[in-house]
Amino acid sequence: VTALAEAGPAAREGTLVVTLEPCASTGRTGPCTTALLDAGVARVVYAIDDPTSTGADVLRAVGVSVAGGVLADDARPGLAVWLAAAETGRPLVTWKFASTLDGRTAAADTTSQWITGPAARADAHDWRARHDAVLVGIGTVLADDPTLTPRLGTIHAPPPLRVVADPDGRTPAHARVLAGGATLLAVAPGVRAPAGADTVEVPRTAAGLDLGVLLGELYRRGVRSVLVEGGARLAASFVRAGYVDRAIGYLGPLLLGAGRPVLDDVGVGTIDAARPWQIEDVTVLAGDVRIIARPVREG
Ligand SMILES: NC(=O)c1ccc[n+]([C@@H]2O[C@H](COP(=O)([O-])OP(=O)(O)OC[C@H]3O[C@@H](n4cnc5c(N)ncnc54)[C@H](OP(=O)(O)O)[C@@H]3O)[C@@H](O)[C@H]2O)c1
Repeated sequence: VTALAEAGPAAREGTLVVTLEPCASTGRTGPCTTALLDAGVARVVYAIDDPTSTGADVLRAVGVSVAGGVLADDARPGLAVWLAAAETGRPLVTWKFASTLDGRTAAADTTSQWITGPAARADAHDWRARHDAVLVGIGTVLADDPTLTPRLGTIHAPPPLRVVADPDGRTPAHARVLAGGATLLAVAPGVRAPAGADTVEVPRTAAGLDLGVLLGELYRRGVRSVLVEGGARLAASFVRAGYVDRAIGYLGPLLLGAGRPVLDDVGVGTIDAARPWQIEDVTVLAGDVRIIARPVREG
């Protein structure tokens, strides 16, 4: 819609080349099909079918020449997050953690800064910048008082929405996560959050807030990718519920032997019940190791 507005009369009788099938529905902008017809575009070439809309049919019905599926395999990686979210109706979830070689994220006295070095931290901030939202549990806010903004990396995208799963509204009014930028506190119904904080009410389950409802709320607000940055309790709930699509783990060359584990109980009592994951990438970042992995899903 923006490109057509900028092209103005130059778009008349023109050909539109896009990665995704133009939509026939109203999202953040009006239907792309309406904008194309208003602009007088004669031909549309696109790579990937939109699983949520049928814009190509609408255009063909009124005489626009449409070619779909062109270079689809080349276009798919760039649309992977959007497509995955469109198929599931929830944002793509990446769980990020930093741990010692023995899988600890904080020492016995709860100190946790810094497990990894500057290169790994800058890389983690780049991943933050690539996500629409960053989510932590209230335990992490109370323990670390994080800002959750991308500050160290090289990617300068609009900062992600910061989200705190905080059933009882325990986020302190002076918490750094509430300063400078957009933050959403997910609280249980009827709970009062600090004055001025943007909140969303999410029903409780035995483990905490209902993560399916929370993800649905975020999707409704336009969030298509969420980086879950801990802690162990919130991450375990995500793993248990099967909502983690990918993990990015940074391993620092330290041993603690005691302290907070990277993940709380996920209901695995015996090795046969262990959850299978597949390693996608291993990269050494100036002395730390970054592992990207995906759960192996049946079917
Ligand atoms: N190295 C790392 O990568 C890393 C990253 C983050 C945190 N950490 C460390 O992890 C520690 C904090 O982790 P944590 O496990 O104690 O707390 P957490 O996972 O950050 O937060 C847990 C809290 O989130 C709330 N919550 C809401 N919905 C939930 C759900 N569905 N499932 C689980 N929790 C839900 C609950 O609050 P209520 O209790 O109010 O119900 C719960 O107690 C700190 O020591 C921090 O330094 C390390």
